[in-house]
Amino acid sequence: MSSARGFNVMERMFKRRFAVPKRTSELIALMAISTTLFLFLHTRDLNSKLKQMEVKMQPEDLVSANQLISGNSGPSSSSGVRAMMKILQSTGEMTSLQPYQLNNTLKAQQEMIFFNRVPKVGSQTFMELLRRLSIKNHYGFHQDRVQRVETIRLAPEDQARLAALVSTYDPPGVYIKHVCFTNFSEFGLPEPIYVNIVRDPVERVISWYYYVRAPWYYVERKMAFPDIPLPDPKWLKKDFETCVLSGDRECKYLKGETREGIGDHRRQSMFFCGHDEACTPFNTQGALQKAKMAVEQHYAVVGVLEDLNSTLTVLEHYVPRFFKGAFEVYWDEISRYNTINRNTFKPPVSEEVKEIVRRNFTKEIEFYQFCKQRLHKQLFALRLPEKP
Ligand SMILES: *[C@@H]1O[C@H](CO)[C@@H](O)[C@H](O)[C@H]1NC(C)=O
Ligand SMILES: *[C@@H]1O[C@H](CO)[C@@H](O)[C@H](O)[C@H]1NC(C)=O
Ligand SMILES: *[C@@H]1O[C@H](CO)[C@@H](O)[C@H](O)[C@H]1NC(C)=O
Ligand SMILES: *[C@@H]1O[C@H](CO)[C@@H](O)[C@H](O)[C@H]1NC(C)=O
Repeated sequence: MSSARGFNVMERMFKRRFAVPKRTSELIALMAISTTLFLFLHTRDLNSKLKQMEVKMQPEDLVSANQLISGNSGPSSSSGVRAMMKILQSTGEMTSLQPYQLNNTLKAQQEMIFFNRVPKVGSQTFMELLRRLSIKNHYGFHQDRVQRVETIRLAPEDQARLAALVSTYDPPGVYIKHVCFTNFSEFGLPEPIYVNIVRDPVERVISWYYYVRAPWYYVERKMAFPDIPLPDPKWLKKDFETCVLSGDRECKYLKGETREGIGDHRRQSMFFCGHDEACTPFNTQGALQKAKMAVEQHYAVVGVLEDLNSTLTVLEHYVPRFFKGAFEVYWDEISRYNTINRNTFKPPVSEEVKEIVRRNFTKEIEFYQFCKQRLHKQLFALRLPEKP
């Protein structure tokens, strides 16, 4: 539940790329433990609140209409697009597929983008894109402040408060926060334009693992919250492969398990499933279906980090008010200077170890594939001429 903290300050620090003095790195070597403890306490408190909520929905009963095929992973790219095209053609769906059928922007009742960004999916770069586009396309840019504990799963009254806050900004605008899908219409508020980005779930979990161990992460935390103590150096040095292969608790991914607090960055789908208790167990069918439902009913675009060009093109066409010119701005202005969030402390992880982890991430992988296919469908529906 509680999530990545302090992204904003960190972003500034990245830009400075500042070197960590030796003393400081020793000093910061303690922090994680108390952070964990704090998160744990906080989570427990929130948990008891959330337990009082009843889940009325039966997600298994809901069929997701847009789900076309699953499986077929492979590195996104144009070969994936072409394979998808073939399937669509063979089912006759290609000729009937119209953009309006896939255009949730039409459902929006306010010109506000609600970008409930997932940590470690390159959303730092997307924020930069949105910030630049806000100047070009004339809209307001708003983001949540740095939180000591970033709570992504909120009690109903806090969801209502968040939805109300976002609805008070002058449209058009964008609001960015690490938080689970929040259903504005549930609180009688006008539907915003939902967008988000996903990433290969195993790559993402590895990225998170090293991110929380990177020195700048602690320095940044320590600067924002000086009383936070330092992590155990042994914990800092532990590498992902050893963690998985030795059966370390931190790298065990068990179906149905609810492990919240700092460790629970395993479930990308949770950002789409929502705030319900039903969304918390790892790798379950119910949470997966609920996440797919939210994407299908509400999200204008869920981009895919590994398929940036399709993402940018689809954003430009389905949410033009905000993303007009996104492709150009990204390739001309952002990509060439983009060193944001590139963790140089991240050692390579072998395919074998990734495969071990992948075996337990079946629902997460299915969700990722689902988003990718939806993105590709949106792209075909546009019937753009092929790029040379
Ligand atoms: C994957 O799940 C199985 C069965 O629940 C479990 O025994 C195993 O330890 C898990 N592996 C990892 C890397 O989490
Ligand atoms: C969001 O809330 C509306 C109104 O209560 C409901 O019709 C819709 O199904 C909800 N969406 C999800 C994904 O639960
Ligand atoms: C994405 O577009 C850029 C800019 O046009 C191009 O240089 C790049 O090769 C494209 N990438 C893929 C994977 O098609
Ligand atoms: C989707 O709907 C939005 C809002 O009406 C519109 O601006 C955009 O052009 C539409 N996109 C497509 C591809 O139909």
